[in-house]
Amino acid sequence: MNSTTQEIRNFWNDRADTFGSNSKATLGDTALRQLEISAMLRELRTRRPADVLDVGCGNGFSTRHAAHALPRCKFIGVDYSPAMIHNASTESLTNVHFDVADVLDAATLPTGPFDVIYTQRCIQNLPQWPQQIEAINNLRARLRPDGSLLLMECSRDGVEQLNRCRRRFARQPIENIEPWHNNFLCDQHMVDTFDATVTCFSSTYMFLTKILHPRLSRIAWRLPAIGRFGYDRLYTIGT
Ligand SMILES: C[S@@+](CC[C@H](N)C(=O)[O-])C[C@H]1O[C@@H](n2cnc3c(N)ncnc32)[C@H](O)[C@@H]1O
Repeated sequence: MNSTTQEIRNFWNDRADTFGSNSKATLGDTALRQLEISAMLRELRTRRPADVLDVGCGNGFSTRHAAHALPRCKFIGVDYSPAMIHNASTESLTNVHFDVADVLDAATLPTGPFDVIYTQRCIQNLPQWPQQIEAINNLRARLRPDGSLLLMECSRDGVEQLNRCRRRFARQPIENIEPWHNNFLCDQHMVDTFDATVTCFSSTYMFLTKILHPRLSRIAWRLPAIGRFGYDRLYTIGT
């Protein structure tokens, strides 16, 4: 693990110590969290998986939601932060198990095979595109032949598009959407390298809350996504 990666892991260990099992440990925007959970549940229900791996699960807040909603499905949640995994393990559910594993260290990952492997804002924590490729390949190797890799990650194209749109509405661009410990994905790289399908599941939410007004978040996350907008995107690899 190089020093940047170590710093990023320390950052997540500190967040775990500060926030415990609170959802804000890994995402401050609670409405966006609801949107992510409902979008991921929709994807899981469509595929009816038996075995699911959540990679970079943090304190397991969203993993537990999914495990409650799909009691017949077996979930494993992994994260490279021992403090996050400690907090994830406080509530026991019969169909979910948490463990420490590094997506870049294949030997630590559960072997599977899995019907669905998903991430929610994990791959973007890997500082370089070659590491992101390596991580995605590690995960693809653990899928069943007709399995799905669902990467809910932030898109740099989405950030640029959002700030272009804000300028058209005579608003200042939002700075620092991409924090120091992130390397947002580039849509075209994902399409060219992995033949990924890119879905803008947060379009309506992002337009209403980041262009019109943040207060709209309470209703915005419940509305269907319309158009191609928003930087929180779903990259689907496989079926
Ligand atoms: C933004 S948080 C998201 C956590 C969770 N998916 C959620 O939605 O609440 C990113 C998580 O990815 C984990 N992570 C970052 N790099 C990782 C790696 N190389 N292997 C495993 N987990 C990693 C971090 O420890 C952190 O908990």
